[in-house]
Amino acid sequence: MRISKRVDQVVPSGIRAFFDLVLGMQDVISLGVGEPDFVTPWHVRARAIESLEQGYTSYTSNKGMIELRRDIAAFLKKRHQIEYDPEEEILITVGVSEALDLAMRSILNPGEKILIPEPCYVAYGPVVELAGGEPVFLETSIENGFKVSPQQIDEAAGRGVRGILFGYPCNPTGTSYSKKELEAIAKVIKKHDMLIISDELYDELTYDFEHTPMAALPQMRNRVIYLNGFSKSYAMTGFRIGYVCGPSDIVGAMTKIHQYTMLCAPITGQMAAIEALKDSAGDVYAMKKEYDRRRRFIVGALNDIGLTCHMPQGAFYAFPSIKASGENSMDFAKNLLLQQKVAVVPGVAFGQSCAQHVRISYASNYDNLKEAVSRIEKYLKRPNF
Ligand SMILES: Cc1ncc(COP(=O)(O)O)c(C=O)c1O
Repeated sequence: MRISKRVDQVVPSGIRAFFDLVLGMQDVISLGVGEPDFVTPWHVRARAIESLEQGYTSYTSNKGMIELRRDIAAFLKKRHQIEYDPEEEILITVGVSEALDLAMRSILNPGEKILIPEPCYVAYGPVVELAGGEPVFLETSIENGFKVSPQQIDEAAGRGVRGILFGYPCNPTGTSYSKKELEAIAKVIKKHDMLIISDELYDELTYDFEHTPMAALPQMRNRVIYLNGFSKSYAMTGFRIGYVCGPSDIVGAMTKIHQYTMLCAPITGQMAAIEALKDSAGDVYAMKKEYDRRRRFIVGALNDIGLTCHMPQGAFYAFPSIKASGENSMDFAKNLLLQQKVAVVPGVAFGQSCAQHVRISYASNYDNLKEAVSRIEKYLKRPNF
């Protein structure tokens, strides 16, 4: 066999065939994509263009431009009162995607376990496996708003468990946690001396309360690998800029891998990120306000047509139950696509326990959402059903 056992054993995403089907069709309303429908704010794009005109086309420091690392440190201090040393405790990565991979490869020895609340972002299980670790999924359900409980973590912790990979607000459920809920989780993490890899990429898209970073909680800073980036809140997916903040030994280990495998994040993206941090509060607020308007509409409308949906607290996804359809998520998504030309993501993409849900992205304009809901209703009311 030419392929390594480790790679061979990673299960390819089961929804690839489904998306091939979407690509082959016309006039589809796609609520499948996990990226903002807004274009990057103009002043950020303008700075990127200007930097190219000025000849900024080189590598940067492996860790990323010091100006960007300083700006991130200042931003986190001002917004969340967490302090990181930009020289030793911050690394600029190629999106949170790279940061997830580096984090796992830096901390895991063969066979060690990482707890992952499910449903979860599609990459979480594979990055653990590719680093030689073993993901242990902790199932959550719509009844408890898809929140993992401290008791679940407490019961799963123990021998061989190095940490928990925790994303909030969550892709695909939009679930987030209040400060009080995070404190209860932090208590168990400390009790078991675990690490927490905290993916807070959607933090600025939190609607009902202020987002609290895990690293801001008492005595947590030294055990949190804090991941964030510019893709979602700043509508900058294509610039590919993420960052990791954490204790210097872990960030140092991640930098070691990064310098050999990636060298550095793209300079144009870093230039754009510096600009984004300067003056984007208004842009982020405007996008968030629009997502919030859509969130209220889509959740209300889905419940009205019989698809039970909890109110997500963040990100731009709704994760309704499709139990009422009598189908599993893959059949539902396929038939809805073929019969009504609406693309949603089957829940199984986010974990085996999610076969009765679909992910609906509301990063799509309001009129599309309205039309999509009316088509879903037609699908549910089809004759012979
Ligand atoms: C929860 C979560 N983490 C990480 C990523 C990767 O984002 P990026 O690599 O663009 O920063 C995504 C993208 O959808 C995501 O939803």
